[in-house]
Amino acid sequence: HRQLVIGMFGFGVVGEGLYRVLEQTPSLSAYIKKVCIKHPDKKRNAPSSLFTTDKDEILQDEEINVVVEVIDDANAAFDIVKTALLNKKDVVSSSKKMIAEHLQELLELQQKTGRSFLYESSACASIPAIRNLEEYYDNDLLHSIRAIVNGSTNFILTKMFDERLGFREALLLAQQQGFAESNPTLDVEGYDALNKWTIFLCHAYGIVTTPDQILFTGIQNIHKSDAAVAKSRGQQIRLVAQAKKLVEGGVAAFVLPQFVTADNPLSFVRNEYNGVVIESGFADQQFFYGKGAGSFPTASAVLSDLSALRYDYKYEYKKLYHHEPNQLNDDIYLRV
Ligand code: HSE
Repeated sequence: HRQLVIGMFGFGVVGEGLYRVLEQTPSLSAYIKKVCIKHPDKKRNAPSSLFTTDKDEILQDEEINVVVEVIDDANAAFDIVKTALLNKKDVVSSSKKMIAEHLQELLELQQKTGRSFLYESSACASIPAIRNLEEYYDNDLLHSIRAIVNGSTNFILTKMFDERLGFREALLLAQQQGFAESNPTLDVEGYDALNKWTIFLCHAYGIVTTPDQILFTGIQNIHKSDAAVAKSRGQQIRLVAQAKKLVEGGVAAFVLPQFVTADNPLSFVRNEYNGVVIESGFADQQFFYGKGAGSFPTASAVLSDLSALRYDYKYEYKKLYHHEPNQLNDDIYLRV
C-alpha cells in the first residue's frame, strides 16, 4: 500500500491529537511533512521546523499526497480543500460546518478530480458512522436513525441535570476539555448538530441539502423544570437528531431536544459521548456508541481515514448515485 506524505492545516485539539496518535502508530507508514498554522508565535509541543504559515508550502509541494484539514474557519477550510483536490491531493477533513454548507460543490469536485475526500471525523468523532451508513444499509432497508451527534450539549445536559452544575459552569468545563466549538453558540443552539445531520442525510439517504433547510432547536431553552418533568417520568432530556423514512415517500429530518424513555439506548448516552440508534430491515435495532468529541477520539477517526486512503478508498455515495435520490418531506424539514 501507499506511503502517505501528509501536509496538515491546523494544530488545535484535533491536529495535535493526530500528531500524537501518528507518533504512536508507526505501522501506518504515514508521516506529517508540514503543518500550516495561523499563529506562529504560539508555543507548540513539536519541532518548530514542522510549522509554516505559508499554505503553498503544502498545496504546491508535489511530494505531499494527502492534505489533512482540521481548522476552525469554514471559509478558509473550503478554499484549502478545493485547492488541494484540484492539485491532485487526497483530502481528509474534520470541518463539519464547511462540508455541510458545501456538499454539492464538494461532490462535484470529487467527480471532477477523481481524488478521495474523506471526513469520518466530522460527525460523531470516534463512532464509525459515515462509512457505516454509506456501506452497510441498502436504501430501502434503512427505516430510521435517531442520534446524539453533539458532545458538548450532551455533556452540558448531563452535568446540569445529573450533577446539578449551572449552565455556565457546565459549558466552561466542556470548553476546557476541548469539546466545545470556539464559538459555543454553535453547539448550544443546535447548529453543530445540524451540520452533522446534513452529512448523515447524504450518506444514509442520498439527500443533498444544506443545514438551513432542516428543522432544529438547540438546548438554549431547556430549564431545570423540564428536567424535573423528565425525572418524574423516568426519562432523560437529550438533543436528538432524527431522520425517518415516511410511508408516503420521502424522509423527515430534524434536530430537537426530546424526552427519551428508559428503553431508548440514547438515554444511556452521557457526557461527551454520542450514540446512534438505527432501525433497519432484518437487522432490527442497532446501537453505536462512543466519544463524540475530544482530541484523541476525533484523531482516531482521522486516522481511520488515513488508513482507508492507503487502499485508495473513496465514498461511493451509493444512495445518491446508485438509487433514486430521496426527498426531504416539506412539512417537516422546513425551519421554524
Ligand atoms: N463541538 C463538537 C461537539 C465537537 O461538541 O460535539 C465535535 O464535533
